Amino acid sequence: MTVAPTLPGAVTVRAPAKVNLELRVGPRRPDGFHDLATVFQAVSLHDEISVTRWDDWQVVPAGTYAALIPTDGDNLAVRAAKLIAEQWDVDEKLSIRIDKDIPVAGGMAGGSADAAAALLACDQLWGLGLMRDELAELAATLGSDVPFPLTGGNAMGSGRGDQLAPVLARGTFHWVFAISDVGLSTPAVYAECDRLRDLTGSATDVPEAQVSAELMGALRSGDPVALGAALHNDLEPAAFSLRPDLEELRDAGVEFGALGGIVSGSGPTVAFLTESHEASLDLSVSLAAADLCRDLRRAKGPVHGAHVVSAPRT
Ligand code: C5P
Repeated sequence: MTVAPTLPGAVTVRAPAKVNLELRVGPRRPDGFHDLATVFQAVSLHDEISVTRWDDWQVVPAGTYAALIPTDGDNLAVRAAKLIAEQWDVDEKLSIRIDKDIPVAGGMAGGSADAAAALLACDQLWGLGLMRDELAELAATLGSDVPFPLTGGNAMGSGRGDQLAPVLARGTFHWVFAISDVGLSTPAVYAECDRLRDLTGSATDVPEAQVSAELMGALRSGDPVALGAALHNDLEPAAFSLRPDLEELRDAGVEFGALGGIVSGSGPTVAFLTESHEASLDLSVSLAAADLCRDLRRAKGPVHGAHVVSAPRT
């Protein structure tokens, strides 16, 4: 783990990872995106972003996955900060420390969480007083998954996944995430989904994406067994096609007693729902012994969206 000190005067924001409990992918649109119907749950793996005024733009990587953080202008947190500076005519540059505990390129929206956190941190640092819906609008221009980490909890996503609506839910759910050592590119997984649909002749009659009544019922009742049975991801066949080892991993987790196993978003992280914290510990031990993934992380959901954890006194 890389330790980098937080600079004085920094604003620090914490943002959560997500898992898609259900991801229904509609037909490919003329703009290349797909209409989605999805249900997000924010889970207790977090990145922390600290922003400080600096004489140039810089990224300071830290945390579990520090070595995998891009430090150039492609970093989504930097793009978020530059976007907000440009829109509100702020002529300042920032040092952005990213303390990364969310797996990189894993289908858990880690880059999106960083962008969401950077928006909130800049709003606070520059005293802009933006409303949540203004932040969400900016977030959507940065990526389909960026608005959700601002909201957190459980939410339904439509459009590109960026139009959010609240979901009635109760209870806390326990997860084990099996992390791969190589990431999967989101565009590549969507392209593979299209290719498989073309191959099977189903591309012309892809139904409109809709979330199932079973999943919504399971969330409303807080029943993990029903939720485990209702987990669904239309991108899973594409992820399995690109990475056949993931199917073996998913099957192993279910055999070891998970209530359900699913590729998270566009993968390659595989998410397993369990009955309890103890059941998550047991499942982690079994999966570690089977040696089918690089790392295992336990988490619970839902958790809160992005929030300021420290700011200089004004
Ligand atoms: O919005 P974001 O930058 O996360 O999207 C990355 C890529 O994922 C897009 O360029 C597109 O190929 C694919 N995508 C899609 N439909 C969506 C969201 C993403 O096809 N609803």
